[in-house]
Order: sequence, then C-alpha cells, then structure tokens
Amino acid sequence: MHDNALSRRDLMKYGVLASAALALPFERVVRAKTASDRIAISKFPKPFTVPFAVPPEAVPVKRSSTTDYYTVTMRSAMTEILPGMKTETWSYDGSFGGPTIRATRGRPAVVRHVNALPRVHPRLGYESWTSVHLHGSASLPEYDGYASDVTRTGEYKDYHYPNSQDARTLWYHDHGVHHTAENAYMGLAAMYTMHDDLEQSLPIPHGRYDVPLIVRDAMFDRDGQLLYDDGGHSGIFGDVILVNGRPWPVMKVERRKYRFRILNGSISRGFRFQLSTGDPFVFIGTDAGLMPQPRSVTSYRHGIAERYEVIIDFAKYKAGQRVVLKNLGVPNSEDFDTTGDVMAFDVVGDATDLSGNAVPDVLNPNAPAMDLTAAMARKTRKFEFIRKDGIWTVNGKTWADVVASDYEYVWADPGLGDVEIWEFENKSGGWWHPVHVHLVDFRILDRNGKPPSPWELGGKDTVYVGENETVRMVVKFGPNTGRYMIHCHNLVHEDHDMMAQFRVGPPADGHHPVYAAPASSGPAPTALGDDDDSIG
Ligand code: C2O
Ligand code: CU
Ligand code: CU
Repeated sequence: MHDNALSRRDLMKYGVLASAALALPFERVVRAKTASDRIAISKFPKPFTVPFAVPPEAVPVKRSSTTDYYTVTMRSAMTEILPGMKTETWSYDGSFGGPTIRATRGRPAVVRHVNALPRVHPRLGYESWTSVHLHGSASLPEYDGYASDVTRTGEYKDYHYPNSQDARTLWYHDHGVHHTAENAYMGLAAMYTMHDDLEQSLPIPHGRYDVPLIVRDAMFDRDGQLLYDDGGHSGIFGDVILVNGRPWPVMKVERRKYRFRILNGSISRGFRFQLSTGDPFVFIGTDAGLMPQPRSVTSYRHGIAERYEVIIDFAKYKAGQRVVLKNLGVPNSEDFDTTGDVMAFDVVGDATDLSGNAVPDVLNPNAPAMDLTAAMARKTRKFEFIRKDGIWTVNGKTWADVVASDYEYVWADPGLGDVEIWEFENKSGGWWHPVHVHLVDFRILDRNGKPPSPWELGGKDTVYVGENETVRMVVKFGPNTGRYMIHCHNLVHEDHDMMAQFRVGPPADGHHPVYAAPASSGPAPTALGDDDDSIG
C-alpha cells in the first residue's frame, strides 16, 4: 500500500507526536517570549505616514498555449516593516504581503512552490514544513494544500489550479500541519485574483482602481522581530496593524470610485470596519466573487480569511480631505490604543480617468451559490465548534483523529452534486470561530434564525460564527470528489487542533490528498512545463 507514501515514522512526526505535545498542560508548552517583551510604542511610525503600496504581481516563468506557469520560492528575507528596523519575514519570493497572482478564468495555472525556508524556525524551534492552499479554489485534493501533505525544506511541489470558477478574490497561504499559524504570521500569505468576461465587462473600477488590501495585525519584540505569543493557544493579538505589509499606511486617491478587495489576513483578529466620514462601503463581492446586487453598509464585521470587495466613492470629498479606515473592534479580539486605525486615504484631486466609475444595480444575477435553497437539501448536518479539555475540536474530534486513521476518518460524506444544509454552532460567549469549508461556495441561510447580514448576501467559503451563534448554510458538493478540510480559520485554533475533513463521493478516487502527488526533492529542475508547446 501507498508505496510513495510518508512512512509511519513520518505520520508520527506530522500528526501523532505533535498532538501528544499539545496534550501537555499549557504551562509546559514552551513559549518563545511573552507580550511583555513587546517593542515600545515609540518605535511605531506615526499613523498614516508610511506610504501605501500594492503588492507586486507574480510574473509567469512561462506561458504555453493553454497554461500559465509560475515558480514561487518560500524564503526568509529581512524586511523593513517598522521604520529603521529589519524584521525577518518568511514569504513567497521574499515579498512580505505578495506577490499577487493574477489569473484568467479558463486558463489553468501550475505554480511550483519551492520550500527554501530555514529548516528550523530560528526563534520558535519548529521544523518548517509547508503546504500551500489556494483559498477559494476548487482544486483537486492533492493540490489543495491538505495540511498533512507537507513539503519540507529543500523540496518543492507543483500545484495545479484549474481557474474554472467565477471571477473572485482568492488568496494563497501556508497550511502546514500544526504550524500554519506561525508560517502565515511570518508572512506566507498573498493574494490571487481571478478575472472573467462578466467581471471585466461591468463598468466597475478596474486596473489601478481595483486595489487589494490585505489587513492583518502583528507584534514585534525589542529587536524588531515578529513576536509570536498565542496566549495559551487562544489567539494572537498584535498592536500593529499592517495593510499589504505596511503599518497604518496612507494612500493617495483621486475623486472617483475605487474598488478595494479586502482580505482579513490576521491569525486571530476580527475587525469591524468603518469610515471616519460615516459614509458607506458599497459591497459588490464576497468570497465567491460578485454578489447578485450591490449592498450599502456603513460598518461591518470582517472575520479572518473572508474577502469582501467594496466600492468607496471619494468623489464627494474635496482635494486635501483625509478619510480614515477605522476598526471599531469585535468582541474577543484584544484591542490596543493603536488598533483602532487601519489606514488613511488622502484625496489629492480630480480623477485622471473616469472609466469604470459606476456600480450597476445588477452585478451577477447567476451567482451559482446564491441559487441554492434549503428545499434542495437532502440532509442537514451539525458541526459544533467546541473547546474540550483545552483542545479546540469539531464535534469533539480533531485532526489527530484524521491522522490516526491514515486520513480516512471523515465528519461528513456527501455524494457528488448533493445539496446539504450545514449548521455551525458556537455555544461559547468567550470566543468566535471563522469557519472555512474547502472546495465549495455556500449561501448563508440564517444566523440564530435571523437573515444573514447584508454584506453576506453573496457566495461564501468562510463564515463568522460569533459568540453564541448558530449559522446555517446551504451548500452543493462538487465539482470534485475526494477529501477536503473544514476548519476554524483562527489559525491558532486550527493548529490546536480544530480541523476536520469531509469526503465527496466514494472513499477511493485516485486523488488521495497526501499520497497522490507528494513533494519532490530539490533542487527544482528548470524544465517546468516543457511538455507543453510554448508560446511565451
Ligand atoms: Cu484559508 Cu484551509 O484555509
Ligand atoms: Cu480554502
Ligand atoms: Cu476558532
């Protein structure tokens, strides 16, 4: 069985042993430093003094007649985040906050992810295996960044992305089992945008007026290094807010509409965003892309890993006016004096280009997830997100149960094409869970029996399950069969060990998430894509 599989020793290493360590009382878990080692606030830049920047775009190493090929190297780099200090970051191609991959629907991509990280984290001491998940993509199981499908230092793996879904905002980030939080915190997270004809044809902002905002928090020690303190596996709450890797930046804007793709890339922090003017955000997109129609909202809560596309219209302001993006905070995300500000927009003058300066009343009448109804469902399943004996679990079980079963154990086994209602329950008032389901897009039916928030009226893959909330959603399983993860996207919860899986279709389908396409040893050959006829 499983000839090219991880050995039993590896299984122990990646799952069972790690879980045994987690069973230690929290006091005995070695913690690098505590929050009292934080750098002085006087070393922070004054808010809105660091210039805003958009992350760089990845350039394909090759374009064949059908496919775009990329090579991305995960590596350590010294990055100036706080002015005058060099911080070690781990990122894709050494780009903290990037690089963005831009995809076109119907043109698949192959991304070779090379793990060139230090073998052991210099301060936290863990082995730096990785797995790369393209969040928002219906990838095959073996290319989905399954947590236990790891790539070690010196290895690489080619990830195949179909790019067959509607235009949307995706992101790729680390998913390596038990170290996702640390790896993502160090910077292994970036955007991936998918474009299609419908989206390109709408008169909404495009090009330089279509702007990614990856918002996250961080904290730094006295040496300016990223400080990792997860408060006994409850969460990381930094006092520095970064947008595209820069602290409280300021962006110059023209008097016109801008489209912002906002991703909460934090490990544990939720935001409640509001503009200092009290003016609305006009929501046009959610996780799964364009909403059926726009929705106008003046403040909203934004959980980890959710993506929202919003239009902000600066036309009504005068040149010289500053508009601040504020964070009002959410329960159970520790606030600091410095976390109420996110970034600023300085209005500099009239628009130099007025194309794509509209928001049509109808955006995407055929958003597939939004056609699902409760009446179509064959089955209802309940998932309780619960802390049990100090461990974060889903229905009392964890990823350790998956590993112990050689990846067979599943929480749900819908057939291909089945529609089901899934109910996510959080009975606690002490924490919330941003719950993510891989592979699918879903429609939120209700939350505690009430309709979803206006900004949630689009296809979703991650949902804010707040304190004492029960959220119901309707979901159709496909287009692929195989095993996929469901987990809390508070990455500290995920790593310890609130991660489950479901299987679409029969147990064996040739797409084993760990054994079908294991990582290869480096150095990576340069012949990526040579089997294809090249036009580039
Ligand atoms: Cu964004 Cu399973 O993750
Ligand atoms: Cu995902
Ligand atoms: Cu959680």
